Amino acid sequence: MTIQTFAPGRVNLIGEHTDYSGGLVLPIAIQLGVTVHAEPAEHLEVDSDHPGEGWFRYVEAVAAELAELGRPDVAIRGSVTSDLPAGAGLSSSAALEVAVALALCVAAGWEVEPLVLADACRRAEFRAVGAPVGILDQAASLLGRERHALLLDCGTLEHRLVPVPDELVIFVVDSGVRHSHETSGYAQRRAELEAGMEKRVRHVRSENERVRQFVTALEAGDLGRAGELLYASHASLRDDYEVSVPEVDALVERAREAGALGARIVGGGFGGSVLVLADEAGADAVAAAYDDPLRVRPGPGAVIRRSSNENA
Ligand code: GLA
Repeated sequence: MTIQTFAPGRVNLIGEHTDYSGGLVLPIAIQLGVTVHAEPAEHLEVDSDHPGEGWFRYVEAVAAELAELGRPDVAIRGSVTSDLPAGAGLSSSAALEVAVALALCVAAGWEVEPLVLADACRRAEFRAVGAPVGILDQAASLLGRERHALLLDCGTLEHRLVPVPDELVIFVVDSGVRHSHETSGYAQRRAELEAGMEKRVRHVRSENERVRQFVTALEAGDLGRAGELLYASHASLRDDYEVSVPEVDALVERAREAGALGARIVGGGFGGSVLVLADEAGADAVAAAYDDPLRVRPGPGAVIRRSSNENA
């Protein structure tokens, strides 16, 4: 049996640093991601072009988490390829975890609900690198759909798809400032929130409200309002949650000057990327304001592309 799985990276449109306290998030899966080619094997043997150090720790951690859920002990031998830039805030590690998890499930002829799998991958992130992340990235990778965003309540796990208007142009601009959950203040921010620190709590409350308003604006086709909410989210992440850095703030200001609808820091923070929204009419001016903007679109969630077990 040969197995091919693909899991996309994600961009969270809005709802940042809300997942681990049971708040609202609104990510899209993007067209870039991680592909695994594999076959069942006795021992875990995987080659990778996945950039960054210690990627195999994630593979082992996913296998260990799935074993705890009762997955039969069938390993895989194969390779991992990725077209996602690492460290840019597009969740390359979650895509790796999800693609490997699906391959391991297929190899063992075993299935679980997508959100159960997403949660196992979230725990794998903690097991691999000690990052106490929420479920945002893994859920987006598994449940994202073409031309839609995923509205997920991370407390109840209720979710629904929200159509993303075709005229909304989505850019991701890499600040070049690299972050690492292992060394960043991510865990510290989470602890401060859980300790009830006023500014941190204020961000989460206002951000949850912005997610609701953003969905309303998208559904009403009011892209201008949606963009304003992005700038407001950035201000809150910068001033109340304090996860931005000057290089990233400068990229957000540049978006404003170029007439973008909205912009904000995305992902865990302390560097990484900026999300910039434009409409079709303004997209060229916005793209020209940056050296290497990456245009992303809401793409399909993770898939099992090929397996001789399927009769498709
Ligand atoms: C990282 C984590 C997510 C989430 C975001 C912030 O991407 O992996 O779980 O907490 O930061 O919204």
